[in-house]
Amino acid sequence: MLGASLAVASPQNLNMFNPVSPAATPIRDLFFLVFGVIGLIFLITEGALILSIFKFRSTGKETKEPPQMYGSNPIELAWTVVPVLIVFVLFLVTTRSIYSLDMQEPPEGALRVKATGHQWWWEFEYEDLGITTAGELHVPKGVPVFVELRSADVIHSFWVPRLAGKIDCIPNRENHMWFQADEIGTWYGQCAEFCGTQHAKMLIRVISEDKKDFDSWATNQLLPAVEVPTPMNGKDTFLSLACVNCHTVQGVTHQGGFGPDLTHLMSRDTIASGAAENTPENLTKWLLNPNSIKDGCLMPNMMLTEKQVASLVEFLTTLK
Ligand code: CUA
Repeated sequence: MLGASLAVASPQNLNMFNPVSPAATPIRDLFFLVFGVIGLIFLITEGALILSIFKFRSTGKETKEPPQMYGSNPIELAWTVVPVLIVFVLFLVTTRSIYSLDMQEPPEGALRVKATGHQWWWEFEYEDLGITTAGELHVPKGVPVFVELRSADVIHSFWVPRLAGKIDCIPNRENHMWFQADEIGTWYGQCAEFCGTQHAKMLIRVISEDKKDFDSWATNQLLPAVEVPTPMNGKDTFLSLACVNCHTVQGVTHQGGFGPDLTHLMSRDTIASGAAENTPENLTKWLLNPNSIKDGCLMPNMMLTEKQVASLVEFLTTLK
């Protein structure tokens, strides 16, 4: 079942009211402040309405019209000045939050990452570390992460609700954001701007881990693909097909930049930007027909034979 294989499953993981990052807390606080103010306004206005309905209801015994009022300066002043003050206060508080969260330059010791939105997957480059990966962003716990956001095609939006606000990835423009995961865990996110048929399956997984685990992950990512001879010569099959035009496997082929880097494919929990778990069965399904997992995806159905697919999966599973 495709639904069951969808990799977003943890309840409450997209809950913006439960932030684990100092970049998300002010957003939650601002929401509660605004909600409190508008809630109070709602209660006052609805309360006055309901009170009027019952208290000033016609009894049917009135003999003359109620007293007619033609304007009241004090009342009109009150309902003009009070809303203006409320809007002004909300404006100031919002502006303060925006400025406090907007970081132009990465802070000392920050990890810098370039996130590029593609139809329909995320590419993550750690330029300082020389790492390129896709779909899953590993970060050390408690370290600020400065993300430069770009798009390879249309407008996408990077949103991991428990870590930070939502920032668009716009073609030919660089936006940026930051977050800091203060707990160990996997934080889910979504592309938050409609970007085509598979917008809904353009998921983000941010994996925050201990410095030690992050370093060992990074060390492994830097290694070229390990040469493991396989009985069906999967590597030769890979090289003989058009796969190499779109996908890079460091140490094997450097041509492709259109699709995700596959050098350490097996170090990821999911494929197709979180659309399916990374298992040999799903890889097989994907290679036989990518549309069966992601309808309309830009990886073409290569019309591979079952034997070719088996050989490719054999190769891909060596990419640890
Ligand atoms: Cu990318 Cu929606």
